[in-house]
Amino acid sequence: MVMISKHAVNKKGHLLLGGIDSIELAKTYGTPLFVYDLSLIRERARAFINTFKEQNVQAQVAYASKAFSSVAMYQVMNQENLSLDVVSAGELYTALKAGYPVERIHFHGNNKSKSELLLALEHNIGCIVVDNFYEIELLKELTTELNQKVNILLRVTPGVEAHTHDYITTGQQDSKFGFDLLNGQADRAFQEVYQDENIQLLGLHCHIGSQIFETVGFKVAAEKLIKKMIAWYNEFTFQCTVLNLGGGFGIKYTDEDTPLEPSVYVKEMVIVVKNLVANTDFAMPEIWIEPGRSLVGDAGTSLYTIGAEKEIPNVRNYLAVDGGMSDNIRPALYGALYDAVIANKIDEKIEKEYTIAGKCCESGDKLIDHISLPKAEAGDILAMFCTGAYGYAMASNYNRLTRPAVVFVEHANHQLAVKRETLEDIVHLDLPLTMEKE
Ligand SMILES: Cc1ncc(COP(=O)(O)O)c(C=O)c1O
Repeated sequence: MVMISKHAVNKKGHLLLGGIDSIELAKTYGTPLFVYDLSLIRERARAFINTFKEQNVQAQVAYASKAFSSVAMYQVMNQENLSLDVVSAGELYTALKAGYPVERIHFHGNNKSKSELLLALEHNIGCIVVDNFYEIELLKELTTELNQKVNILLRVTPGVEAHTHDYITTGQQDSKFGFDLLNGQADRAFQEVYQDENIQLLGLHCHIGSQIFETVGFKVAAEKLIKKMIAWYNEFTFQCTVLNLGGGFGIKYTDEDTPLEPSVYVKEMVIVVKNLVANTDFAMPEIWIEPGRSLVGDAGTSLYTIGAEKEIPNVRNYLAVDGGMSDNIRPALYGALYDAVIANKIDEKIEKEYTIAGKCCESGDKLIDHISLPKAEAGDILAMFCTGAYGYAMASNYNRLTRPAVVFVEHANHQLAVKRETLEDIVHLDLPLTMEKE
């Protein structure tokens, strides 16, 4: 194996993923295919956990599983002793199927239904991150009915605007999530729960945005939340024990992106908290974080088979692949950028500019607007990097395309983690027409 630029390549000039020839993976499992290199995921998870240990801080690192949810992926995260964030009955059910320790499951969402809360209570999960007053009411009603205790965090919007793309920002004041910290909603929520018999308030949560490359937003948010917790302690002698600062740590999709090491984000937020807590009677809380993208994003690569090419002289050359917005909506949804190579031509000379188009019936179904590649031919395999987060997780059956398979690789081993959908799967919920034509 040799490294050509930043990629591992074998003697045939084929891209290697987890030590395996990507062309062989494409042949074995078909395309489009999501390939996850587990060793990268483990490396990231351990970096977060070890930094907290080095800082001597009690912590939980929870995988924000909206980034990619499957039984096998949850089992990997459990092997790494992570906690798990779920945001729906579907993700919670997947976690239960994966045998995830319930005490390490946290349940998020801005409109959890009664049945979702009941499922969470039935399984006695570790914590519910309460988002609004309606949810407080529901939880009071259900815990009283069941005579059951539940741990909660209150999600607040600290009014911190992180450097990120508008569409994926959730920490600003104008957000559908959480109790506003500035206008008194968070104080009202605190009043409603802190003396409740069944609801056990652990502390506060916030999530200030996604794909963040700086620590300043996290530090400002940490400061605002800790100050609020100290104020409650001073006024009501109530000790919050958990500060959850969410996810949003950036990754390198293209050379333009400049993420920090996981350890940098963690160290800087810990320093802020330690400094604010020092010289007060308020006990240092546990710090929880919820990385999604930064755990699985760059571990994932999408393999596509190249098909049709359409040249429009002096305009652009469309190169179409056998997937598209149905397996990766991010470019169409918010102009996300990706890098790619022709996996069977890694060491060939770059010759042509292409636009990578998907096969969905939407003009906006482009995966990459502009990329320079060796001359492509039908049957070549395109490897698009960094697709591990919010790719498969957001996949749809638009145009009744079947969703891809997902494969895990690690140290030259491979296994199927999610089967490819079949045409039969496509129709399995459909029912024939039974009403007569008038
Ligand atoms: C509450 C919460 N936590 C964590 C995350 C994970 O964010 P990321 O994948 O950017 O780390 C999100 C993403 O939207 C979120 O809403």
